[in-house]
Amino acid sequence: MSSLIAPSLLSADFARLGDECRNVLAAGADWIHFDVMDNHYVPNLTFGPMVCQALRPHCVKPDGTPAAIDVHLMVEPVDELALAFCRAGADWVSFHPEASRHVDRTLQLIRAEGKKAGLVFNPATPLDVLDWVIDKVDLVLIMSVNPGFGGQSFIDSSLRKLERARRLIEQSGREIRLEIDGGVKVDNIRRIADAGADTFVAGSAIFGKPDYRAVIDAMRGQLMA
Ligand code: DX5
Ligand code: ZN
Repeated sequence: MSSLIAPSLLSADFARLGDECRNVLAAGADWIHFDVMDNHYVPNLTFGPMVCQALRPHCVKPDGTPAAIDVHLMVEPVDELALAFCRAGADWVSFHPEASRHVDRTLQLIRAEGKKAGLVFNPATPLDVLDWVIDKVDLVLIMSVNPGFGGQSFIDSSLRKLERARRLIEQSGREIRLEIDGGVKVDNIRRIADAGADTFVAGSAIFGKPDYRAVIDAMRGQLMA
């Protein structure tokens, strides 16, 4: 599976979100990662489905093709907002299993909208739920920080969890993306890829720098080394 880079808008300039989407995609990014926080499941508040819908036309690659919007829901409850994001132009919708009363139902709800469904695991959350629903999952997202804020340091135990998730994905025989989120930088992305990740969220590492292309090229260089 090809490696994908998904810059997190959480570290973008909130006064110029449309331009930030276009600029980071022009700089070579693959997806736009959209962090939805509700000040309930996590102690921070970001943006909702109306902002996603407004950004949809700005999430285009330089050749004019649409780039995937990768919605990471840090909200509780999940179902209503998951549906709203499916209808606001999201391509991938992921949620934390502990935030949904009925994980299987939430996965089905997202997939019934024709969207890809993901499960997100916090640093201290085990992967056990995958034993029961991996047939309905399109993406596994391993958090390498506690959710809520950008710019935190990478928690090393997530490398072991990535390895374990990679094994479960291989055993399933299904095409499932393995994404990592939190503290991803040029200098650790190679180790993260070696542990099994194929999709890399990076917020402050990209939007915190003046030259997005330089960072994305350096990340790809590490992945190909
Ligand atoms: C944290 C978010 C991440 C965050 C990553 O709750 O899910 O997507 O923006 O930011 P960095 O790359 O700065 O750790
Ligand atoms: Zn995220």
